[in-house]
Amino acid sequence: MGMAKGKKKEKYFCTDCGHETIGYMGKCPGCGAWNTMAPAPSASGRTERSGQKGRNWASGPKAPPTPLEDVEGEQEDRLSTGIEEFDFVLGGGLVPGSFVLLGGAPGVGKSTILTQVAARLHARGHSAIYVSGEESAHQVKLRAERLGDGALKIPFLAETDVGDVLSHAVEATPDVLVIDSIQTLHDSSVDGVPGGVKQLRHTAAELLRFAKERGVAIFIIGHVTKKGSLAGPRILEHMVDTVIYFEHAGNLDHRVMRAVKNRYGSEKEIGVFRMTAQGLEPVPNPSEVFLADRDAGNPGSAVTAVMEGSRPLLVETQGLVSVTAYGSPQRVATGFSRKRLSILLAVLEKRAGIPFGQLDVFLNVVGGLKLDEPSADAAVAMALVSSVANRPVPTDAVILGELGLGGELRRVSRLEDRLREAAGLGFGRVYTAARAIPDRTPDGLEVVGVADVSRLVNELFGNLKMNVGAGEGQGGRPEGKRTKNGNRVRLELE
Ligand code: TYD
Ligand code: MG
Repeated sequence: MGMAKGKKKEKYFCTDCGHETIGYMGKCPGCGAWNTMAPAPSASGRTERSGQKGRNWASGPKAPPTPLEDVEGEQEDRLSTGIEEFDFVLGGGLVPGSFVLLGGAPGVGKSTILTQVAARLHARGHSAIYVSGEESAHQVKLRAERLGDGALKIPFLAETDVGDVLSHAVEATPDVLVIDSIQTLHDSSVDGVPGGVKQLRHTAAELLRFAKERGVAIFIIGHVTKKGSLAGPRILEHMVDTVIYFEHAGNLDHRVMRAVKNRYGSEKEIGVFRMTAQGLEPVPNPSEVFLADRDAGNPGSAVTAVMEGSRPLLVETQGLVSVTAYGSPQRVATGFSRKRLSILLAVLEKRAGIPFGQLDVFLNVVGGLKLDEPSADAAVAMALVSSVANRPVPTDAVILGELGLGGELRRVSRLEDRLREAAGLGFGRVYTAARAIPDRTPDGLEVVGVADVSRLVNELFGNLKMNVGAGEGQGGRPEGKRTKNGNRVRLELE
């Protein structure tokens, strides 16, 4: 690493693009700009407050160390946002004095969800001030009217100067402060344009200090570009306690909220919402969303359960396999690693006798999800086999398991959570590694233990045998198609 001499191995980030490095660098490896690397601000905001440094330790301690059990305050009297899914993502409610960044693309619903939260806090006797520099008071009012739920009662401030915002907040002593958005806020004591890196750091540092000193929880909204790559919010990630991203999911109306950093709870928790005419509505059973449009009984589809944080999520994988018309066979995967797909094809060929050498393979994970858990292997493989065989996977089946190179089905983590989810959503059968099956399984769910991929194929589709070869299959099965070089791909079903 091109580390400059004498500088400590601290976190630095580029003030232009937000790229992070360990240790100082003259040139940003992210965007190539020179002299833009600065120390990452710590969550205490210390690097922001240069005026305070250099307290002389020789003059004696300010306060002696205290046994931890005597440390007062702050713990576990969390505020509920009034929206269970949101509380869940926050790790069990909002911690007083916490500093939370809600990031997301324009239009995803950031203002909507925080207006709903402010309204519900009010309804339960907590106070929340909504500050907007984004929209006029009138626009915010229109949204509040639409949401109902007492949203018109929320104290609203149209303000962009952080000093003015905080002097209002000192007077009003709210429990929660919502800043919509951090990009429109500015600090008049420093230069730079609102939304620029310098302004973001200063305004966020002011808010952070206020949150910690006064015990006021502060939400800041941060816009993220479509590519998710705006410098601002990434710099802010260093400073805040919790980073929540709000994203589109599946079809147009659904939104997923997830914590990507959380000082007060588990990361990677998700909450699913649906945008309605009256604001965002929690979807308590996210699996239903992802399976909603599933065409049961169609060949080429297989369902699996993956873990999203601590939550199981049912996901449909789709395979489409057809005879290669020209050139080399295509391998296209969306939401799944192409390399992993190649491995699965090799395993299927070698261990289950299904040759893909002259077949195009397309793989899709429904709902725009990305599967990076190996536990989805077996379902992906069965979606492909189902397409080749033109036979559906039984509609009530969920397939769980990693495939080893020997074709063996390997156990998955948190099997019991996944089984519960499958049973809860009305699936009747789960196929998984034989050795992993727990003694007690959910009522109404049959758990089928399978040792390897060829037995799994057999369980699901009966006995399949595929042949590819010149001149074979003149018997004219409907599945037989002629490839470029005159070979026939013939599928035998027994
Ligand atoms: P908004 O919260 O303004 O998004 P953001 O603050 O993230 O930019 O909401 C964006 C969209 O949601 C907007 O196109 C209108 C729509 N919407 C609804 O469909 N229903 C509603 O009740 C509200 C308030 C908004
Ligand atoms: Mg907005």
